[in-house]
Amino acid sequence: MATQRTLSIIKPDAVAKNAIGEIISRFEKAGLKVVAAKMLKLDDDKAGGFYAEHKERPFFKDLVGFMTSGPVVVQVLEGEDAIAKNRDLMGATNPKEAAPGTIRADFAETIDANAVHGSDSPESAEREIAYFFQDSEICPR
Ligand code: PPS
Repeated sequence: MATQRTLSIIKPDAVAKNAIGEIISRFEKAGLKVVAAKMLKLDDDKAGGFYAEHKERPFFKDLVGFMTSGPVVVQVLEGEDAIAKNRDLMGATNPKEAAPGTIRADFAETIDANAVHGSDSPESAEREIAYFFQDSEICPR
C-alpha cells in the first residue's frame, strides 16, 4: 500500500477535554506523521461547507452547531495506508459501537460529539485537505 495523506479533525469536545496530545500521540504511535496542523474556530459557513454532503440530513444543523461550539485542530496525517489506518484508530461513528481502545471509545460520549473526523476515501481526503490547507502549508518529512 502506498503512502497516503488524510485529513483529521480533533473536534470541539476532545479539545475541551484537553485530549489533543493524547489523540495525536495515537496517530504517531501508529506510524502516521503530522505534516500540517492548525487550530481553528470554525464559523457556520466553514463548517457547513465542510459537511455540505450532509446538508439534507436531519442532524446537519446540530452538527454545524457542534463543530462551531469551540476550537478544533485540523491536521494532515501522512503514512502507509493512512486513510484506513486513521479510521481504524478512530473507531465507529457512534462511540457506543466503537471498539475498545479506539479514540471514540475512549474520548467520545455521543454520535453528535464524537471526538474526531477522518477522511473516508482518497477522493474525500484530497478535497478535505484542500478545504483547510494550501500546498505551501503542508510539510512532507
Ligand atoms: S453516515 O450516516 O454513514 O452518512 O454517517 P457518516 O458519513 O459516517 O458521518 C456523518 C457525519 O455526521 C456526524 N453526525 C451524525 N451522523 C449520524 N447521526 C447523527 N445523529 C449525527 N450527528 C452528527 C458524524 O459524526 C459524521 O461526522 P464526521 O465528522 O464525518 O465523522
